[in-house]
Amino acid sequence: MTSGDGDEIGLDLGVYLRNHADAALVEALGAIGRTATHLSHHIRRGALAGNLAAEAGAANPDGEAQKALDVFADTLFHEGMRGCGVRAIVSEERTLPTPLDEGGGLLVALDPLDGSSNIDANISIGTIFSLLDAPPSGAAGADAFLQTGRRQRAAGFVLYGPQTSFVFSTGDGVHAATLDPDDNSFRMSRLRLTIPQGSAEFAINASNYRHWRAPVRAYFDDCIQGEDGPRSKNFNMRWIGSMVADIYRVLMRGGIYLYPADERPAYARGRLHVLYEASPAAMLIEQAGGAAIDGVGPILDLLPHDIHARTPLIFGSSDKVARIGRYFAGSEGAADRAPLFGKRGLLRR
Ligand code: F6P
Repeated sequence: MTSGDGDEIGLDLGVYLRNHADAALVEALGAIGRTATHLSHHIRRGALAGNLAAEAGAANPDGEAQKALDVFADTLFHEGMRGCGVRAIVSEERTLPTPLDEGGGLLVALDPLDGSSNIDANISIGTIFSLLDAPPSGAAGADAFLQTGRRQRAAGFVLYGPQTSFVFSTGDGVHAATLDPDDNSFRMSRLRLTIPQGSAEFAINASNYRHWRAPVRAYFDDCIQGEDGPRSKNFNMRWIGSMVADIYRVLMRGGIYLYPADERPAYARGRLHVLYEASPAAMLIEQAGGAAIDGVGPILDLLPHDIHARTPLIFGSSDKVARIGRYFAGSEGAADRAPLFGKRGLLRR
């Protein structure tokens, strides 16, 4: 916190934004916040709002079956973002961008409902978004969105968990607002979040172990060896399966999240989408003092070739991300350094 930050805790999100961001961002972030408030209400009603996890009968551009809540959230954001200066919107749920306000100066890329596989289990889910500049004039087609994450004007996510949290950055640190159930408004709750170093937590879907490539297996093997292995430290694993919730935990407690590329044909470039998952996550993580890489370089330097392009994604506290970067570069964690850590890995048959 810098001096004066304490005065802003509890401030209405819209007021905070008006004091700290330019008018275009205030409009767009305000619309995301209002839409998320509606979505949060719908999610809180759970089964009373219908079967949110029911298959909607259609597939997203990746061919995954859409759930009722995916479609509901997608429709809500397309309606909610009208009239707030956004030229076009890209959604995980739609093949092409949707035009919104003709003269709008911004583009929005979002995953309206991250963590769909957790809906029926009442586990935290979210919305993740990225704001970019629109071209100087004309319609904004898919090409207009193909910008590196460094050019994001703002990024963030809304976490629908035990509390609904709106976490964002406009390039000046990472801040969080909490939805106040008493009056249904977002109020600033944390300013200038900084990822703690030294955490003993890592997050990865270990059921994919057999598909991973050598550097990832070596890193994982070293973690689970705990005090008996080369890291000389015991680790704990947390995998929520909703990336927004994992980002939130890393922002609060530190640690590392990994969704690497693997040998499955559909995962050769990882699972997460550059535009509306990896780039906004990376902006938040870097703004909070952490790092986000694809194994080779920073996520924010990736130039997506397609609006639905994917990338391997590793983010977390900078010391941990630097370490796995060395595993990828081959300067640490060589899979054959000792028989115990042999080429096949500890969990290899
Ligand atoms: O689609 C993204 C996502 O649901 C993330 O929120 C999450 O981290 C990951 O995929 C979960 O993937 P898996 O089901 O393979 O563990």
